[in-house]
Amino acid sequence: MFFTYFYLDKWVGVWQSKDMKILITGASSGIGRELAKLLAEKFDQMVLVGRNQNRLSALQQEINGQYPDVNVTTVSLDLSVAEHCQQLHTMHPDVDLLINNAGFGNCGEFASDDLTKDLAMINTNVVALHILTKLYLIDMQARNRGQILNVGSIAGFMPGPLMATYYATKNYVVRLSESIREELRRAKSKVKISVLCPGPVDTNFAKTANVHFNFKGTSSAKVAQYVVKHLHQFYIIPSFKVRLARFGLGLLPSTWVARLVYNFQAKRIYD
Ligand SMILES: NC(=O)c1ccc[n+]([C@@H]2O[C@H](COP(=O)([O-])OP(=O)(O)OC[C@H]3O[C@@H](n4cnc5c(N)ncnc54)[C@H](OP(=O)(O)O)[C@@H]3O)[C@@H](O)[C@H]2O)c1
Repeated sequence: MFFTYFYLDKWVGVWQSKDMKILITGASSGIGRELAKLLAEKFDQMVLVGRNQNRLSALQQEINGQYPDVNVTTVSLDLSVAEHCQQLHTMHPDVDLLINNAGFGNCGEFASDDLTKDLAMINTNVVALHILTKLYLIDMQARNRGQILNVGSIAGFMPGPLMATYYATKNYVVRLSESIREELRRAKSKVKISVLCPGPVDTNFAKTANVHFNFKGTSSAKVAQYVVKHLHQFYIIPSFKVRLARFGLGLLPSTWVARLVYNFQAKRIYD
């Protein structure tokens, strides 16, 4: 716990001040839920977003059971609808830490995938994240403080046959974040951006995406702990093996990587 705070405080001095507000999308389960539980101690106001109100309310109760003084607001919204993202920003502007975590995947051959599901995925993983990043970044730049954490994936560094749309959405998240980072650096801004790129994590993700892991993924609690310790970094990749895989795959031509990923994904779907 000591190290958690050490890194958090070292990175962003603003965490020390009063009235700190955090907004987490996809807080109703998995990685978002664990991040909310872990970060509750550091924030005076929390805005927790997802579609499942029951799960959000249960989390709110759990947090307030431990931290009665934290003002926890739950917002049940479908972020795949662009207007909802704008509404969310209007209702809750000026956050100090935005965590764009809501997202999901789907497995199968591109031509056989349901188009409606593809578009819902693009709207959630890409369009919602794009809108919220832009609106909150404008606020943060005006105050010259704050941080955005975009949840990408190791999938964001490679092509993804048999999960093509999902991998493409996560490539968007990584590239968008890298570009904003450079713009902020040039502007000497105090606003920070980071991108979380985990490998497989044990959450509802696999069930939603219709895949099974042939090995045990990292627990979402461990991922959240790693994130909080490494918020000062731009790329946050919570496993040595995944960091190694990213490095190794980066040395190969992308046609080879696509072949390797096809074999990996085929095992997860067909075995
Ligand atoms: N698990 C992995 O292996 C893994 C690996 C790399 C990256 N990631 C990324 O990590 C993020 C979190 O996923 P997870 O693993 O924690 O999976 P999860 O347990 O399924 O959580 C996904 C969260 O996103 C929310 N969400 C999905 N669609 C939404 C929508 N249209 N509007 C609002 N909220 C929505 C869900 O809330 P509701 O159902 O309440 O709407 C839920 O809280 C995702 O971006 C995922 O791509 C996961």
